[in-house]
Amino acid sequence: MIVLGIESSCDETAAAVVRNRRQVLSSVVASQVEAHGHFGGVVPELASRMHIESIESVVEQAIAQAGICVADIQGVAATRGPGLLGALLVGFSFAKAFAFARNLPLAGVNHLEAHIHSLFLTEPSPKFPFIALLVSGGHTNLYYVTSENNCELMGQTRDDAVGESFDKVARMLELGYPGGPVLERLARQADSDLIPFPRTLLEKDKFDFSFSGLKSAVLRYTQANPPANEKDRAQIAASFQAAVMYVLTCKILQAARAKSCSRVAVCGGVSANTTFLQSLKEEASKEDIHVFSPPASLCGDNAAMVAARGAVMLEQGQTCSLDDDVFSRIPR
Ligand code: KG4
Ligand code: ZN
Repeated sequence: MIVLGIESSCDETAAAVVRNRRQVLSSVVASQVEAHGHFGGVVPELASRMHIESIESVVEQAIAQAGICVADIQGVAATRGPGLLGALLVGFSFAKAFAFARNLPLAGVNHLEAHIHSLFLTEPSPKFPFIALLVSGGHTNLYYVTSENNCELMGQTRDDAVGESFDKVARMLELGYPGGPVLERLARQADSDLIPFPRTLLEKDKFDFSFSGLKSAVLRYTQANPPANEKDRAQIAASFQAAVMYVLTCKILQAARAKSCSRVAVCGGVSANTTFLQSLKEEASKEDIHVFSPPASLCGDNAAMVAARGAVMLEQGQTCSLDDDVFSRIPR
């Protein structure tokens, strides 16, 4: 089955073509990062307008790069939520029009499930069951994934998401937006154990996270010791990153032990952090646990993962009608 995927939940307009659930024929991402960078974060109204401007050409490029024609598309999948409502509406409405004009089935995809499906778009992909840590700008969720359709939420952040914390600390260090990649690069220039920032593990037998205390500690530290140069900033960045990595590594390995599972995976924007991945792999290998992650191009928001999740839904007849709407939060 050839599926056209569309993603517009935040600040990336993306389209992709995926064949037989797992073969990525094309994946086009038009990032709005530069435009939002001027404001230090995503401006929802600007995001919606920019999605409107680029959605048509992004879809055209995805179809052209896949080497197919429109008539070859057998189903459409678009992100339905969670995300920014106005931004979601653009991609989802476009997908509705595209699908219903051509009498194609449409899948309304959960963005978080799509991130998990990014793990199936490369070899080797994890066999079921596995533990998945989704770390993005809006979420820090730990799942026990038992099949393509079933994942148990074991824990989540009680306050800030990991990506959000990276972005906020990067802002304190005046590194621009989005801060994650820049902060990781800067952190390579310093030792990670110079500043003892808090490593909040909450209850021992639970899998929730909390990063607001760490964020406040970094703020207090930078106020008391304003970084005077690149070296000072690098020390703060490296110590902050080490604290985050410690907590994430502890919880993901603890979850693997609790489920007697020898496979763990990370996905979402922050999984592009190679420092974290390397250190997680080192720790996991001590317990014979294998670590999986998507290729760098599929860590952040993209439409290939949406098409991959959508393909499964379409095969199972989980389709949307013209009346269906987007959602900003996961319906309970
Ligand atoms: O998955 P994503 O593209 O969008 C959301 O669904 O939120 O994740 C974006 C987040 C941003 O907060 C960004 O700073 C973070 O992922 N990020 C990173 C790195 N690359 C992206 N955080 C830490 N290290 C990185 N290398
Ligand atoms: Zn995302």
